[in-house]
Amino acid sequence: VWPVRTIDWVDGAVELVDQTRLPDECVMLRLRTTDELIGAIRRLAVRGAPALGVAGALGVVLAAGDREAIARLRAARPTAVNLAWGVDRAAAVADQGPEAVLRAALRIRDEDIAACRAMGERGADLLEGDRLRIMTVCNTGGLAAVERGTARGVIQTLHERGRLAEVLALETRPLLQGARLTTWELARMGAPHCLVADSAGPYLMARGGVDAVLVGADRIAANGDTANKIGSYALALGAERAGVPFVVVAPETTIDPATPSGDHIEIEDRGAGEIVRFGGVRVAPEGTRALNPAFDVTPHDLITAIVTDKRIIRP
Ligand code: MRU
Repeated sequence: VWPVRTIDWVDGAVELVDQTRLPDECVMLRLRTTDELIGAIRRLAVRGAPALGVAGALGVVLAAGDREAIARLRAARPTAVNLAWGVDRAAAVADQGPEAVLRAALRIRDEDIAACRAMGERGADLLEGDRLRIMTVCNTGGLAAVERGTARGVIQTLHERGRLAEVLALETRPLLQGARLTTWELARMGAPHCLVADSAGPYLMARGGVDAVLVGADRIAANGDTANKIGSYALALGAERAGVPFVVVAPETTIDPATPSGDHIEIEDRGAGEIVRFGGVRVAPEGTRALNPAFDVTPHDLITAIVTDKRIIRP
């Protein structure tokens, strides 16, 4: 099935693609309670900043005025500002009744679809060249939004314009969003692509195999520092050294003016289990400690440009 709508409101419930089951099967979940949705967010059945914004808003519809449930939903994952933003925007009209909350949530869904299209066009216009080799990390495609995605949305527009030579998709340890989700999308798009181990990113740039790095964002601080999937910072360092543009693609809603700089962004730590085991198999000695930050912060001076649905920012 392609394209899929990642998340939507269907017959009184939240319907979303269970991303933990991809690439083997594309299964829809129907969620009728806020707690079911919180569970889906925590185990990354739904993930990616823009999709979390829509999930947050639709979750307020499910909460039906239960303030405690809304607060738990808002805190289900800390780094992507879109989740709290979506919750707050829907909750702000709660006193106008459930229909108004649903309308606000569906507006966020529709705005995301339009924003991703705009980012795709603007990002493709920004990049020079017509046989582009693009490196990317994590999944920033339709699965991370509603339909088209952010950085992967630019890749889709380049492909539609016949300007894409190849995508180098980093596998994205430990949960493999690149290997499982981005390659699945690129294959359905018919876009040439190649899967790359995370640690190979800077070297492949150094040997001249990459024209641009495109990444998404979970939160952009007021000074342009950008939190995104762990590994993005290493790519930015490698890109600077190799003279490759490092471009962040994100909707305006991912910019958080209340966060002055990257130091103030809360980075989710997902615990040792995802590191000391791989696919359910233990890969480190029993009792090994592990750190598992799910995101890192790229300082603004390493970012060539931030492409949003409204403008290009050069931090
Ligand atoms: O942990 P995830 O899979 O939710 O992390 C997602 C990312 O880091 C994406 O790059 C980001 O949310 C932008 S998605 C368009």
